[in-house]
Amino acid sequence: MVQRMAEDRAAVREFFTERAARWEARFPDDGPAYAAAVAELGLSPGASVLDAGCGTGRALPALREAVGSEGTVLGADLTPAMLEEAVGNGRDRDAALLMADVSQLPLRDGLLDAVFGAGLISHLPGPGSGLRELARVVRSEGQLALFHPVGRAALAERHGRQITPDDVRAEPVLRPLLAAAGWRLVSYVDEDDRYLALAVREPQES
Ligand SMILES: C[S@@+](CC[C@H](N)C(=O)[O-])C[C@H]1O[C@@H](n2cnc3c(N)ncnc32)[C@H](O)[C@@H]1O
Repeated sequence: MVQRMAEDRAAVREFFTERAARWEARFPDDGPAYAAAVAELGLSPGASVLDAGCGTGRALPALREAVGSEGTVLGADLTPAMLEEAVGNGRDRDAALLMADVSQLPLRDGLLDAVFGAGLISHLPGPGSGLRELARVVRSEGQLALFHPVGRAALAERHGRQITPDDVRAEPVLRPLLAAAGWRLVSYVDEDDRYLALAVREPQES
């Protein structure tokens, strides 16, 4: 089990290390889509938010803008090369960056008001445990946004593959997965130019 986790992490790091330097240049026009997705969270000034799998930090300026200087923005990623790009792009001015696995976060229970995860969930070998860990660090009624600037069908086409019904991002798969992890799916959009699933943290029994 521990060895399997180490292998999974190594595979993710290898995949994204190769892509880190070119990541932002490949998708230069996505900024407004990230800002629009962040806006859907309706974050208040002073709120605390985590960008889970922040990569080079494309969402971090919009998250900082939303919570203001009194708020807290964290960016967590497993791949050092992606975080180095984030620093090179000055994104460490918008957020505290940490190298961490989102399935094992060094954060206390209920710390955050919200989590934003762009392009993350498909890369988690165990999406259920990742979503449970994200639920652990979010307060009751806090929010989760799972975003991608391209919808499932358009992304599959880009990668030359077919869309499959067992895709973790498909609503019939995602909804029960979220529920088992402590989230309630409240909104789901899968269009060519946007994938956005919004969920709310179910109140926890005390
Ligand atoms: C598709 S990229 C998206 C990056 C960024 N969110 C964006 O939208 O540009 C996925 C990112 O998730 C990170 N990642 C994958 N699995 C992770 C995990 N278990 N914990 C933390 N980060 C992870 C990868 O290192 C990579 O930077």
